[in-house]
Amino acid sequence: MSVMNDPWMKDREYVKYTLWFVYCCLIYAMIGFSWGALMGGIHEFRHFVDHRLHGNLIVRAHTHINLLGWVEMAIFAALYYIIPRLVRRPIYSMKLVKWHFWVHNIGLIGMVVFFTVAGVLGGTASVTMSPSEVEMIVRPWLASMGMFGTLVLAANVIWAYNLYRTCKGWEKG
Ligand code: HEM
Ligand code: HEM
Repeated sequence: MSVMNDPWMKDREYVKYTLWFVYCCLIYAMIGFSWGALMGGIHEFRHFVDHRLHGNLIVRAHTHINLLGWVEMAIFAALYYIIPRLVRRPIYSMKLVKWHFWVHNIGLIGMVVFFTVAGVLGGTASVTMSPSEVEMIVRPWLASMGMFGTLVLAANVIWAYNLYRTCKGWEKG
């Protein structure tokens, strides 16, 4: 049987969303790598993230755009491509693929933005304020980061469930 006749090959939504994961992976990689280059290359920037109170939260934004953006997005796209071919059946639910895509992207962008805002505000305030005052400034932004982080966790659970249901019972055909 030609591979072109396999059920998932006719599903344009499946191809579209798998490619969107790839495109997002490339965009986040470009942003994440440039962020690292600027952070390492510009002396004042590196000094801020290494020595100002809470400045290291800006490094957390860099690490998470790379890990949740480029690394995870690449793995999502690869497994959405591989698993249907391995078990020879389409992805269990395209609706869940769409939910996964949007919830992960919104969660990731929120995490990165609020890590950055917390780091910039905390690091800037630490020049004139006491550590406890700086803590009060940073806290709500980190709480927001945590809420968006929970969305990322939810997206990963959706992804895992969908792949599990796709694979379950594969040997029965
Ligand atoms: C061109 C690519 C990259 C550059 C130039 C770069 C640069 C940097 C720099 C300068 C720091 C340290 C900031 C500091 O504390 O002074 C850093 C930290 C870090 N980067 Fe990157 N990075 C790149 C890509 C990546 C990628 C692809 C990942 C993960 C997949 C990654 C993960 C991390 C982690 C986990 C840390 C934090 C280490 C720690 O907490 O001590 N980076 N990066
Ligand atoms: C639900 C999603 C996630 C949330 C909410 C989250 C949250 C956090 C937080 C709050 C920290 C900072 C801890 C601290 O400095 O006290 C952290 C550190 C770290 N996380 Fe995550 N994380 C998530 C997913 C991931 C994933 C998927 C990876 C790896 C693939 C990862 C890798 C790391 C690493 C390497 C560090 C320490 C180094 C650094 O950020 O500079 N995280 N994470």
